[in-house]
Amino acid sequence: MKFTWLDFFITILVLLLISISDFLIVTILACIVKSLPIEYQGLFNVAIFCAVFLILLGGVYSRILRFISPPADAIFSSDDNSMQCIIWKQTVFAYEWTASILTYVTPVILRPTLFRLLGAKFGKGVLIAGKIVEPQMVEIGDYSFTGEMSLLMAHALMKETVVLKRIVIGNYVSVGAHAVIMPGVRIGDESIVATGALVSMGTVIPSGEVWGGIPARKIGNIDQSHVIPESAASA
Ligand SMILES: CC(C)(COP(=O)(O)OP(=O)(O)OC[C@H]1O[C@@H](n2cnc3c(N)ncnc32)[C@H](O)[C@@H]1OP(=O)(O)O)[C@@H](O)C(=O)NCCC(=O)NCCS
Repeated sequence: MKFTWLDFFITILVLLLISISDFLIVTILACIVKSLPIEYQGLFNVAIFCAVFLILLGGVYSRILRFISPPADAIFSSDDNSMQCIIWKQTVFAYEWTASILTYVTPVILRPTLFRLLGAKFGKGVLIAGKIVEPQMVEIGDYSFTGEMSLLMAHALMKETVVLKRIVIGNYVSVGAHAVIMPGVRIGDESIVATGALVSMGTVIPSGEVWGGIPARKIGNIDQSHVIPESAASA
């Protein structure tokens, strides 16, 4: 992927503006910090600076980017300097410096909130134990979950071409641990993606099926054994 002088200029300008705003906020909050015991003041200033930095870059800046260029399926060259390409590179930069770091330090119970703030559309009771790149391009229905170390990736970079496609996951879907879901994948209600599967670009998994392997293929249909463990069923 090629970065142009404009990418560097925008990135440095954004970092500069965010850092200046951050210093101003820390200065304003200094009167509160001063009321704390002296030995904690430095620690609080650093904590406030980091928190505000993450909010401004991951929350405010990524929202501005989504406002300028709403997330949509697209294919473009990584060095064409189009608005869409510049915005995509900035979105990746904002993501890498915020969500990418925060994903693994945020408790699983709070991860859906983190990804919602970054633009993901989730239904009720969604559980995210893995990673989502481009959360603004991901929709997950009610009570679905993604397993430990799974990866939902709505972009694919091939030579100089960037493919961006929405990932849509239905209700009660299980995405196994270490599974990789590529751009444009659609998974129907109640289906299961097996542990370690690679669901390649544009694959459509119908409702009620089990898919696994590399690349993922249908390996079965959902039956009671996938819903109720044998021991519980026979009890
Ligand atoms: C796919 C899955 C649902 C299969 O469960 P199951 O039906 O009890 O599995 P079985 O052991 O009876 O195997 C059924 C078939 O699927 C195949 N299979 C099982 N797990 C597979 C996997 N991870 N990848 C590819 N094929 C798999 C088996 O080889 C078998 O094939 P065969 O009929 O040709 O011999 C389960 O293995 C799985 O991956 N669940 C996801 C769990 C998870 O990761 N949760 C998130 C973390 S908590």
